[in-house]
Amino acid sequence: MEESMENILEAGSQTYILDSAIAGTNMTLMATALGIGSCWIGAFEEKALRSILHIPENLKIIALITFGYEAGKASVVGKLLRVLFNKR
Ligand SMILES: Cc1cc2nc3c(=O)[nH]c(=O)nc-3n(C[C@H](O)[C@H](O)[C@H](O)COP(=O)(O)O)c2cc1C
Repeated sequence: MEESMENILEAGSQTYILDSAIAGTNMTLMATALGIGSCWIGAFEEKALRSILHIPENLKIIALITFGYEAGKASVVGKLLRVLFNKR
Protein backbone atom coordinates (compact mmCIF):
# COMPACT_ATOMS: atom_id res chain seq x y z
CA MET A 1 0.00 0.00 0.00
CA GLU A 2 1.23 3.47 -0.85
CA GLU A 3 2.22 5.75 2.01
CA SER A 4 0.12 8.91 2.33
CA MET A 5 1.75 12.28 1.63
CA GLU A 6 0.82 13.32 5.18
CA ASN A 7 2.85 10.42 6.61
CA ILE A 8 5.81 11.18 4.39
CA LEU A 9 5.81 14.86 5.41
CA GLU A 10 5.44 13.88 9.06
CA ALA A 11 8.50 11.59 8.83
CA GLY A 12 10.46 14.36 7.10
CA SER A 13 9.65 16.81 9.88
CA GLN A 14 11.16 14.48 12.48
CA THR A 15 14.74 14.68 11.19
CA TYR A 16 15.68 17.51 13.56
CA ILE A 17 17.33 15.08 16.00
CA LEU A 18 19.51 13.69 13.21
CA ASP A 19 20.22 17.21 11.95
CA SER A 20 21.27 18.28 15.45
CA ALA A 21 23.50 15.22 15.87
CA ILE A 22 25.17 15.92 12.50
CA ALA A 23 25.76 19.57 13.45
CA GLY A 24 27.06 18.57 16.89
CA THR A 25 29.39 15.96 15.42
CA ASN A 26 30.83 18.51 13.00
CA MET A 27 31.29 20.98 15.87
CA THR A 28 33.16 18.44 18.01
CA LEU A 29 35.33 17.34 15.05
CA MET A 30 36.30 20.93 14.29
CA ALA A 31 36.90 21.64 17.98
CA THR A 32 39.24 18.66 18.18
CA ALA A 33 41.10 19.89 15.08
CA LEU A 34 41.53 23.26 16.82
CA GLY A 35 42.79 21.63 20.02
CA ILE A 36 39.56 22.29 21.92
CA GLY A 37 38.03 19.56 24.06
CA SER A 38 34.31 18.78 24.01
CA CYS A 39 31.81 16.58 25.80
CA TRP A 40 28.29 15.55 24.81
CA ILE A 41 25.70 15.59 27.58
CA GLY A 42 22.31 13.99 27.05
CA ALA A 43 21.20 13.70 30.68
CA PHE A 44 20.31 17.09 32.15
CA GLU A 45 17.65 18.86 34.19
CA GLU A 46 15.65 20.54 31.46
CA LYS A 47 13.78 22.98 33.69
CA ALA A 48 16.95 24.27 35.37
CA LEU A 49 18.77 24.48 32.05
CA ARG A 50 15.98 26.53 30.45
CA SER A 51 16.04 28.91 33.37
CA ILE A 52 19.85 29.33 33.50
CA LEU A 53 20.32 29.76 29.73
CA HIS A 54 16.98 31.56 29.13
CA ILE A 55 15.85 28.97 26.57
CA PRO A 56 12.19 29.58 25.61
CA GLU A 57 9.64 26.74 25.74
CA ASN A 58 9.16 26.76 21.94
CA LEU A 59 12.74 25.51 21.46
CA LYS A 60 13.44 21.81 21.95
CA ILE A 61 16.71 20.88 23.69
CA ILE A 62 18.31 17.83 22.04
CA ALA A 63 21.63 17.70 23.89
CA LEU A 64 24.38 19.83 25.38
CA ILE A 65 27.97 19.97 24.22
CA THR A 66 30.56 21.61 26.42
CA PHE A 67 33.70 23.08 24.86
CA GLY A 68 36.94 24.11 26.51
CA TYR A 69 40.68 23.81 26.66
CA GLU A 70 42.04 20.75 28.44
CA ALA A 71 43.60 21.43 31.83
CA GLY A 72 46.66 19.43 30.83
CA LYS A 73 47.67 18.39 27.35
CA ALA A 74 48.11 14.62 27.15
CA SER A 75 50.40 13.14 24.50
CA VAL A 76 48.85 10.87 21.85
CA VAL A 77 50.31 7.85 23.69
CA GLY A 78 49.00 9.23 26.99
CA LYS A 79 45.53 9.66 25.49
CA LEU A 80 45.63 6.10 24.08
CA LEU A 81 46.60 4.67 27.45
CA ARG A 82 43.86 6.68 29.12
CA VAL A 83 41.27 5.25 26.70
CA LEU A 84 42.63 1.69 26.99
CA PHE A 85 42.66 1.73 30.79
CA ASN A 86 39.64 4.02 31.18
CA LYS A 87 41.67 6.50 33.26
CA ARG A 88 40.73 10.19 33.50
C1 LIG B 1 24.79 11.96 22.59
C2 LIG B 1 25.65 11.72 23.81
C3 LIG B 1 25.16 12.06 25.07
C4 LIG B 1 25.95 11.85 26.21
N1 LIG B 1 25.45 12.18 27.44
C5 LIG B 1 26.21 12.00 28.53
C6 LIG B 1 25.72 12.36 29.83
O1 LIG B 1 24.62 12.85 29.97
N2 LIG B 1 26.52 12.14 30.90
C7 LIG B 1 27.77 11.61 30.76
O2 LIG B 1 28.45 11.43 31.78
N3 LIG B 1 28.26 11.28 29.56
C8 LIG B 1 27.53 11.47 28.44
N4 LIG B 1 28.02 11.14 27.22
C9 LIG B 1 29.41 10.63 27.13
C10 LIG B 1 30.40 11.77 27.15
O3 LIG B 1 30.08 12.79 26.21
C11 LIG B 1 31.82 11.29 26.78
O4 LIG B 1 31.80 10.75 25.48
C12 LIG B 1 32.28 10.24 27.74
O5 LIG B 1 32.34 10.80 29.02
C13 LIG B 1 33.68 9.69 27.33
O6 LIG B 1 34.63 10.68 27.39
P1 LIG B 1 36.18 10.36 27.06
O7 LIG B 1 36.21 9.87 25.64
O8 LIG B 1 36.89 11.69 27.20
O9 LIG B 1 36.62 9.35 28.06
C14 LIG B 1 27.26 11.31 26.07
C15 LIG B 1 27.75 11.00 24.80
C16 LIG B 1 26.97 11.19 23.69
C17 LIG B 1 27.52 10.86 22.33
